[in-house]
Amino acid sequence: MDIESIKKERKLWLKWKNIAPLRELLSKLPDITASKIELEDVVKIEGDATKKQREYINEVSLALRPWRKGPFEIFGTFIDSEWKSNIKYNLLKKYFDLKGKSVADIGCNNGYYMFRMLKEKPKEIVGFDPSPLFKTQFDFINRYVKSDIVYELLGVEHLPFYHKKFDVIFCLGVLYHRSDPIVMLKWLKQGLKKDGEVYLDTFYIEGEEPIALCPAKTYSKISNIHFVPTVAALKNWCEKAGFNSFEVLAKKPTTFEEQRKTRWILGESLEEFLDKDNPNLTVEGYPAPKRVYVRLKVGSV
Ligand SMILES: C[S@@+](CC[C@H](N)C(=O)[O-])C[C@H]1O[C@@H](n2cnc3c(N)ncnc32)[C@H](O)[C@@H]1O
Repeated sequence: MDIESIKKERKLWLKWKNIAPLRELLSKLPDITASKIELEDVVKIEGDATKKQREYINEVSLALRPWRKGPFEIFGTFIDSEWKSNIKYNLLKKYFDLKGKSVADIGCNNGYYMFRMLKEKPKEIVGFDPSPLFKTQFDFINRYVKSDIVYELLGVEHLPFYHKKFDVIFCLGVLYHRSDPIVMLKWLKQGLKKDGEVYLDTFYIEGEEPIALCPAKTYSKISNIHFVPTVAALKNWCEKAGFNSFEVLAKKPTTFEEQRKTRWILGESLEEFLDKDNPNLTVEGYPAPKRVYVRLKVGSV
């Protein structure tokens, strides 16, 4: 697979008619030097901006909706994203050490986790996500963070052909979008260095048996959810993909605190995805979303 020509071709996605006007807005962003950058629960950029500059930054932030991941605060504009991504990041943070490591975030969205990771002093961070809107959100934030994070408009399917391998790969919230979960896990393995590790989360269903729910049309009103496994089935998938070590780090239902409608998205959120009379079920009658967080290694157990 010729990654360089795919990257070249995808650069043109930034010229799509829904994206080009946003890139135009970005090109007119004021040059402001951040006096303080906080990489905490809120990724916050502060600095001496004039009233007019702050207003423009607010206008650009709104134009870049929907903001799924965050929160961010940029020169006074608080981007209260649909997801409080700090909850997932903080849950995982106690398990990893990124110091001096080559790190990839596959399905990185607008880069919220990658910005948080800068604090851990990795050698390098590379994000993969094929969404030109999320890349534009990333470019907006990074214009002021000025990090050397690399954002590739690529998908997990390109990882085996990428020019480098990684010590740590994050692949969060992507597996259930794949019709070929075992193949995807193999791609992650192929993207790893010999002693590398993968941090992954996915929806799961309760049960001891190694089985998976295969939703009819939608799951929690999301159309591209293919399989929701039990943890036992997920373990089998990971083993089939060549991971010998499978550790469950946490399991947790999605709460209204973590995912909710704010003015920074334009459609519905969790509240509309669950059965009004029974929040343990989705509107389709499936078990409500719960996530399992795992660490995978190739080396023997
Ligand atoms: C549910 S979001 C998860 C975002 C983030 N990783 C998290 O856990 O909060 C799924 C992300 O996968 C991205 N995505 C879509 N197709 C992809 C692909 N082929 N490879 C990698 N990521 C993809 C989407 O653009 C989106 O940002």
